[in-house]
Amino acid sequence: MLRLGVNIDHVATVRNARGGAYPDPVRAALLAQKAGADGITAHLREDRRHIMDEDIDKLMKSLTIPLNFEMAATAEMQQIALRHKPHAVCIVPEKREERTTEGGLEVAREENQLAHFIAPLREAGCRVSIFIAADQKQIEAAHRIGAEVIELHTGAYCDFHAEGKFDERDQELKRLTEMASFADGLGLEVHAGHGLTYGCVQPIAALPEVKELNIGHFLMGESMFLGMENAIGEMRRLMDEAREG
Ligand code: PXP
Repeated sequence: MLRLGVNIDHVATVRNARGGAYPDPVRAALLAQKAGADGITAHLREDRRHIMDEDIDKLMKSLTIPLNFEMAATAEMQQIALRHKPHAVCIVPEKREERTTEGGLEVAREENQLAHFIAPLREAGCRVSIFIAADQKQIEAAHRIGAEVIELHTGAYCDFHAEGKFDERDQELKRLTEMASFADGLGLEVHAGHGLTYGCVQPIAALPEVKELNIGHFLMGESMFLGMENAIGEMRRLMDEAREG
């Protein structure tokens, strides 16, 4: 079965716009859980622009489905992850000036540091996932450092789809397809995410090697119109349809 991880960061973005406690991302996570999410993803950024430390505390206490804790490879985040020991930790690149996670992690360039960085997380029992571009060099490096999971960055594929650049989109889909198969062949579990919408999710959901999709921004936006249960339910339906077809 293809799992759906729901990213609730942007409920916190709306909350923080007013500096209060509403809307509560933990309430969103519990609703997503009720609506059929298989996991919740939350990214604690260095600048705390959306998810805050207390949100992670509360998510760890209240969720019955796994938490995928997204973080940059910093000593501070490693300590937080080791304190909570979430089911999964996804290592992402992070730049203060970016609006969202723009690219994949440069694993190949920082192989030794990353191998040392993830070792204690693995020893603590977290499944370590590395967010990377669909690039053979990065996948091989992720495998060498001992990651169990890679998450393929679907951002470029989704952007080309949204801009109507269908040749470029199809090229990117071809790359994602080949690299999902390559990574699976190395024994890595393959996840995918970033920018996925109802319009572009199905070709990614149809890739047999992909075991989990992580989706946030579109689903939170759509929840404003349809309600969270309906928004997630429709994504689930499209994913299942793609998988069966
Ligand atoms: N996966 C990772 C590793 C991410 O960093 C993000 C964005 O925070 C997502 C998935 C979800 O992307 P989106 O919010 O565009 O659906």
